Amino acid sequence: MELAPNLEELTMEETRLQPSFRVDLRTRFSEKEYNKFVKLNTVNDWSQLSWKDVGRPFEVKSFAKEKKEWEQKNNEPLPAHTSWTMFNKSFHDWFVKDVPTEMDRSKKEFMNSLKKFKLNETKSALGEMVRIHLWNYAHRVEDGIWDPRGKRALFEGLDVQKPKILFLGAAEGYEAMQLSAMYPGGEIVMVDYDPFCKDTRFGDFPESYPFLGTNPQTGGHKVYYKSDFEIDYIVEDIRKLPFGNDFDIVISVGLLEHFPDELKSEVVDWHRKFLKPSGYIIMTTPRVQLRSKIYYEIMADVMNHTYRELMTIEQMGLYMYENGLDILKHGYIKVHNGVIARAK
Ligand SMILES: C[S@@+](CC[C@H](N)C(=O)[O-])C[C@H]1O[C@@H](n2cnc3c(N)ncnc32)[C@H](O)[C@@H]1O
Repeated sequence: MELAPNLEELTMEETRLQPSFRVDLRTRFSEKEYNKFVKLNTVNDWSQLSWKDVGRPFEVKSFAKEKKEWEQKNNEPLPAHTSWTMFNKSFHDWFVKDVPTEMDRSKKEFMNSLKKFKLNETKSALGEMVRIHLWNYAHRVEDGIWDPRGKRALFEGLDVQKPKILFLGAAEGYEAMQLSAMYPGGEIVMVDYDPFCKDTRFGDFPESYPFLGTNPQTGGHKVYYKSDFEIDYIVEDIRKLPFGNDFDIVISVGLLEHFPDELKSEVVDWHRKFLKPSGYIIMTTPRVQLRSKIYYEIMADVMNHTYRELMTIEQMGLYMYENGLDILKHGYIKVHNGVIARAK
């Protein structure tokens, strides 16, 4: 197998912890893991669901200190674009941390603060220690954010050849690369209106990260790296894109839940607009579950610069169904809901 330089000796079916992320080349879940992490196609008939049955999404109301300070200083709500630039910088900082080193450091700082008997210092050191340990668990141990096995379980079975993939609100672009590894030979257009996403979140995405996909020659597995994909990254507002219905797949990850109900149909339209008649819409949003509520509470300063909802798969699917999509596959994978749909 062709390997990235700093991941020599990596073998198929292996998973390994790197300082900033997990590498996972396992092709499948064990039955026990699958039952725990993946649940697909639980709704038989979307036309039978109503908002009365499924309830409303949970709105996350604890906001980042940075957002609150900006609003106090400027006496107006933080504009959406500025909130995303704050979020992307803040979130990216965590993806590049050497987590084991940071965990050691935070523990030492906490112990030192105890010796000084200064309550504020101790509180802040404790907060840092809790956050880095939570990040270690969520991103490295559980691999809940990138979740390659879950994403592969969601993305498998599409009827596409060398697809043109459009990623709306692409950030670091992870999911489009995973899709392109599974359905190779096509092209990816990533769109994000925050230039930091193109330059740094995607620009510095680790070249050594292995994406498990398909070998078109043999039909077996093949590992791809960022440099193997054909990617055009456009810094632009989704509402100003010049494309027609050119794409086989239009995907967004963590976009829909940032818009209140009156804007949800517009967000669904953004996906439909650029899709070939036979194309697929893929959307994922964070699940509403106790552990996610705790995560967004503890990570509020890192993550909560914008309006954010947590929802069930039924709520997410209903937004898409009501807005004219035919739902082909739905379910949850670790921390996100996912839906694969077509325009009716
Ligand atoms: C919550 S992030 C997506 C989650 C992502 N996987 C991550 O790790 O951050 C949403 C992204 O959409 C971008 N975005 C939001 N509204 C946009 C718009 N109107 N046009 C282009 N990009 C937009 C933001 O800049 C942000 O990077």
